[in-house]
Amino acid sequence: MKRIQKIGVIGAGMMGSEIALAFAMGGYFVSIKDETLEIAARGKEKMTKSLEKLIKKGKVPEGDKTKILDGVTPVAAYEDLKDADFVIEAVFENLNVKENVWAALDKVCQSNCIFASNTSSISITRLATSVKKERLGLFLGAHFFSPASVMKLVEVIPGLDTADETVKAVMDLLRSIGKEPIRVKDVVGFAVNRIFHAMLIEACRLLEEEVATPEDIDKACKLGLGHPMGPYELMDVLNNKLNLEVEEILFESYGERFRPRPNLKQRVNANHLGRVTGRGWFDYSK
Ligand SMILES: NC(=O)c1ccc[n+]([C@@H]2O[C@H](COP(=O)([O-])OP(=O)(O)OC[C@H]3O[C@@H](n4cnc5c(N)ncnc54)[C@H](O)[C@@H]3O)[C@@H](O)[C@H]2O)c1
Repeated sequence: MKRIQKIGVIGAGMMGSEIALAFAMGGYFVSIKDETLEIAARGKEKMTKSLEKLIKKGKVPEGDKTKILDGVTPVAAYEDLKDADFVIEAVFENLNVKENVWAALDKVCQSNCIFASNTSSISITRLATSVKKERLGLFLGAHFFSPASVMKLVEVIPGLDTADETVKAVMDLLRSIGKEPIRVKDVVGFAVNRIFHAMLIEACRLLEEEVATPEDIDKACKLGLGHPMGPYELMDVLNNKLNLEVEEILFESYGERFRPRPNLKQRVNANHLGRVTGRGWFDYSK
């Protein structure tokens, strides 16, 4: 398989800009594409801010800043990805949007370019049907965690027709930027979100049964289980609307064990979405 040198990232939002940064820090040339050049350039600005934070924390040498950022090119046309060796898509979590993106990329990208989706919940096998059958072996999922420039784990998800060689090439690529990939079957929620939401749902039950307060449940997870953040503070960082949407998808596939709790629905109905609205499980208005 050809050596991967040029990376394309589609979607310059929260995940796309961070994934692009992770590859740029790993020494790759990255083109980051969004619907307009302006949005793509805003993605590069987000990357710059994240990189500056990492430099401040001593995680990246100041001297590397220019080289990392010089390797990143914001683009708006699919043709700009024609010589990419690996393209990862992080556009809206919507099947139609993603299918259109993949079909367009399939037309312009070289025949040996590997395609990876960062989808959290759409079947990789289903998404792979957007590309011509000759590329099916080169299509897989690569699920990063937020913030992707920092979080080491990536779930690598082969679809029904993904070649083992592609899985290996992507695992090697991810290791080359300091990530720890794990191979996961193409099931709803993959591995991490199933474990994570089982815990969040149980945390909501504890509150409903008045077993403990959100503050104490967070304390229990941090001091008793060694988690860096408690489930309530984490739900507020992530956005409760998104948490509910993920649980509805898991519930549809796995039934009762993932039924979203009424207290989470109530938070969403009240627009207590978390830090983003100034109030979630906790109040951030002060
Ligand atoms: N947010 C998370 O914590 C998280 C974690 C893992 C995976 N994901 C997945 O990553 C993907 C992106 O999530 P996000 O939170 O970064 O979303 P986001 O809304 O922050 O960013 C999406 C970006 O895609 C762009 N976009 C939409 N349609 C496009 C198109 N046709 N061509 C090019 N760009 C287009 C948008 O302009 C936007 O900049 C989703 O599939 C999501 O499920 C998210």
